[in-house]
Amino acid sequence: MSLERIKYESFKNLVVSAEETAQFFKNGMTVGSSGFTRGGDSKVVLKALAERAKNEDLKITLLTGASLGHGTDAALSESNALTKRLPFQVDNVLRKAINQGEVLFIDQHLSESSEQIMDGIWNLDIGILEVSEILEDGSLVFTTSIGNNVAIAEYADKLILEINTAIPKNIKGLHDIVSVPKYPNRKPIEILKADDRIGTESLKIDPSKVIAIVFHDIEDAPGDIQPADEATTAIANNIIKFFENEVAQGKLTKSLMPLQCGIGKVANAVLDGLQNSDFEDLVMYSEVLQDSTFNLIDSGKMNFASACSMTLSQACYDRVIANLDHYKSKIMLRPQNISNSVEVIRRLGIIGINTSLECDIYGNVNSTHVLGKNMMNGIGGSGDFARNAYISIFVTAATAKNGNISSIVPMVSHHDHTEHDVDVIVTDQGVADLRGLAPRERALVIINNCAHPDYRADLLDYYNRAAGFGGHTPHILSEAFSFHQRLSETGSMKKQLATTVS
Ligand code: COA
Repeated sequence: MSLERIKYESFKNLVVSAEETAQFFKNGMTVGSSGFTRGGDSKVVLKALAERAKNEDLKITLLTGASLGHGTDAALSESNALTKRLPFQVDNVLRKAINQGEVLFIDQHLSESSEQIMDGIWNLDIGILEVSEILEDGSLVFTTSIGNNVAIAEYADKLILEINTAIPKNIKGLHDIVSVPKYPNRKPIEILKADDRIGTESLKIDPSKVIAIVFHDIEDAPGDIQPADEATTAIANNIIKFFENEVAQGKLTKSLMPLQCGIGKVANAVLDGLQNSDFEDLVMYSEVLQDSTFNLIDSGKMNFASACSMTLSQACYDRVIANLDHYKSKIMLRPQNISNSVEVIRRLGIIGINTSLECDIYGNVNSTHVLGKNMMNGIGGSGDFARNAYISIFVTAATAKNGNISSIVPMVSHHDHTEHDVDVIVTDQGVADLRGLAPRERALVIINNCAHPDYRADLLDYYNRAAGFGGHTPHILSEAFSFHQRLSETGSMKKQLATTVS
C-alpha cells in the first residue's frame, strides 16, 4: 500500500481491505463498475462480493463498460451474485448462465449505457472505479480504460475506489475526460480530428460519495489474442485490395480515413495486415486498442489512436506500461460515450471494421446470437460504428466449425446490423461491395464473391427460386432458415451430410 497515491488528505482514512468492502453491498443493489474488455476493471472488490455471495443471498445488477478480466464475471456467476448484467461480456461461464436464463443480460450499444445512467434507468447504489491515483483536489486518474467511469462517478450514490499500484503514475495524461450534460443541454462534441483533446486528465468527483478505498497491484488480465490463420490472412489481404482500389479510384488517400476495428481475432488480423501494405499516416478512432494498434504505431504506419480501453497480450501490455511517456503522444483514452459518439463517428468519416457471425444474402448481419438464440458476446460498439461509419465493413471467415457452418445464409437468424448499415462484406473468399446495389443485385454479389464454394450452389438455388416468387427482397419464408435447421438437425449446414444422416 502506498498512501502517497492518495493526495486528497481526508481520503487516507478510508482505506480498507477488499473483504471489508463486500459489506457495503446489499441484496438487490444496482452496481456500476469500471472495466472495459479486461482493461481497468475492478479486480478485488467484485471478487470479494462474489466470495460473500457464496454464503448468503446477495444478488446485484451489474453495469460495466464492457467485459471484465480475471474471471470476475465467472466468479459472480458461479456464486449466483448476478440478477442482471449489461452491457457486454465475453465470459464462458456467464455466457452459459445467460443462455440458460439464469442471468438476465441486456445487450446494449456501448455508447448508450451512460445515457441510461443519466436518465435514471439505472440508479446506481454503488460505483466501483479502478484508479491509478487520487490528486490533491480529490480528482481521479484512471488506468487502462475509462468506459462508463464518468457517468458512474457522477450518478452513483456511493463510490468505492480501487487504487492499482501496478499502473505507473505517469499514466496521467493519457486520458481525455469529458462529462456530457443531460438533455436538453447538450453542446457539440468538438472532436474534429482523432487526436483532439477536449477534456481534462482527471475526473473531479463529489468527495463525499467515496466510502472506501482499496489498494491492489494486479495487472490487467492479458487479452486472448489469437495469431492470424489462413482465413484471417485472406480476409486481411482482401480488405487491403479493397482499400487499394478505393485509393486507385481517388475515393481514399493512402492514409485512408480514421479506422475503427472491433474485437476478436479476425479484426485484429485485419489491422495487422496493414503492416505489410503501402498505407501510411494511419489514425484510429476506435473503442478498443489491441496489439495490432501498437504494432502499427511502432512500425511508423499509424500516427495516433483514440479509444476508451486497451486489451493487450502480456508482452504488448508490458511494452506499453513500460513506455507510457512515449505512447502518451500517440494514444488517448476517452469515455465510451465519446469514443463511440455517433456524432463524432459521422463527422470524422470513420472506416468501421467489425466482425459478424453470419451475414445473409441481402447484407443483414448477425454478430451476437448463435442459431438466433444463444448469446455469444454482445453487440458491443459495432452498432455505434456500423450505422454511422463512412464505410461500414463486416468481416467473417466464409465458414465456421470445420466448414459445417456457412457464414453466408439465406436469412440471418438474428439482426444486429441491417442491410442499411452494411456497406461492404469481406470473407476469405472475397469482397462484396454493396454500395449502390439493390437487394437483388446484392444477393448475387454476396453469394458469388463471399460464400464458400461448398455453399454457393445451395445459396444461388435458394435465391433464384425466391426471386421467381417476386418481392423486393425475395424470400421463401418456409426455407429462409433451412441452413440453420439443417445445422440443428445434422450438425452441418451442408445438404449432402443432411441426406446421409437422415
Ligand atoms: N455460428 C456459430 N458459431 C460461429 C459462427 C456462426 N455463424 N461464426 C463463428 N462462430 C464461432 C467460431 O467458431 C468461434 O467459436 P470457438 O470460440 O468455439 O472457436 C467463435 O464463434 C468466435 O469466432 P472467431 O472466428 O474466433 O472470431 P472472433 O474471435 O473474431 O469473434 C465475434 C467473432 C463475432 C464473436 C466477435 O467479433 C464479437 O463478439 N463481435 C460482436 C461485438 C463487436 O463487434 N464489437 C465491436 C466493437 S469493439
